[in-house]
Amino acid sequence: MTIPTTVEVTEVGPRDGLQAEPEFVATGQKIRLINNLIDAGVPRIEFSSFVSPRAVPQLTDVVEVFEGINRSSSTVLAALVPNVKGAVRAAETGIDEIIVFLSASESHNLKNVNRTVDESLVGFEEVARIAAESNIPVQGVIATAFGCPFEGDVPIEQLGRIAKRFQELGFKGLGLGDTTGMATPPIVKHAVRYLQGEIPELPISLHFHNTRGLGLVNVIAGLNEGIDQFDASFGGIGGCPFAPKATGNICTEDLVYMLHEMNIDTGIDLQALMAIANQVESIVGHDLPGQVMKAGPRLDLHSMTSVATAQG
Ligand code: COA
Ligand code: ZN
Repeated sequence: MTIPTTVEVTEVGPRDGLQAEPEFVATGQKIRLINNLIDAGVPRIEFSSFVSPRAVPQLTDVVEVFEGINRSSSTVLAALVPNVKGAVRAAETGIDEIIVFLSASESHNLKNVNRTVDESLVGFEEVARIAAESNIPVQGVIATAFGCPFEGDVPIEQLGRIAKRFQELGFKGLGLGDTTGMATPPIVKHAVRYLQGEIPELPISLHFHNTRGLGLVNVIAGLNEGIDQFDASFGGIGGCPFAPKATGNICTEDLVYMLHEMNIDTGIDLQALMAIANQVESIVGHDLPGQVMKAGPRLDLHSMTSVATAQG
């Protein structure tokens, strides 16, 4: 397997990141951040979620946010949809892509969407019909795909069963979400190889959280299996409010920096991304875990007078 030469990065900060913030981020600020991401060349953005306003109050302005964005034909605007009601709202709003999600584990699915896995899957039949009527492609995402914080390891056959159902429903791709950072490189390799065998026509994207510091190493494990779609969030912000100890996604600037250093093209302007991450940090008012946003790329050099000389 050769490593891809181009990668599609999806910025999930406006959704995965801002949903986890204690304070509501003003609609105008969300719109400005998303417009800046589009200007930076980000090809796909999860801009918000069509979920219950009681479950995720931070994203109640999903329609206003969408309507405020300066649309560009080079950026896909996708949003999360858990059920039929979400699909109806997404279709009325006219978004580019629906992302339906459920968890591989029963316990996290119950916590996150108040349904069993099979109840979610039954609902997706109607979601698929609504999306098809409106010509909106659907991506299916499996959360807790590499481990569940309540149940531990998830049987790989469960991933296969859900993925096959996604394929039958005509979804355009499969996303594997590592909701609480339980993936490790051998687990990623095993799951991706298995699924590439089970559903060879369905492209796979990977969504890692850096909860245990293995986020970018897991990206390398995915690249080694030929995966060329990864999610990340500006400044490394993020986390699922319905999972214990969930922390931020892998950081978009750190991911793009690494990919560019590996001669993998993303079409994204790294300097512009760093500026956006700094804007996010001042909007949310606390430090973000991103590293390149602080240190800069490796050849951002410093004058010798900027540090003291060690005196023996
Ligand atoms: N958008 C807006 N409102 C919705 C909705 C949607 N997609 N789905 C349901 N609702 C509303 C219903 O209209 C109803 O409102 P009402 O009480 O004013 O009549 C209320 O929510 C309850 O509806 P119900 O179908 O019984 O939902 P629920 O209480 O079983 O909750 C979900 C199910 C899926 C709506 C909810 O758990 C949810 O939004 N989860 C999202 C979690 C998430 O985003 N996690 C982060 C991603 S990893
Ligand atoms: Zn996530």
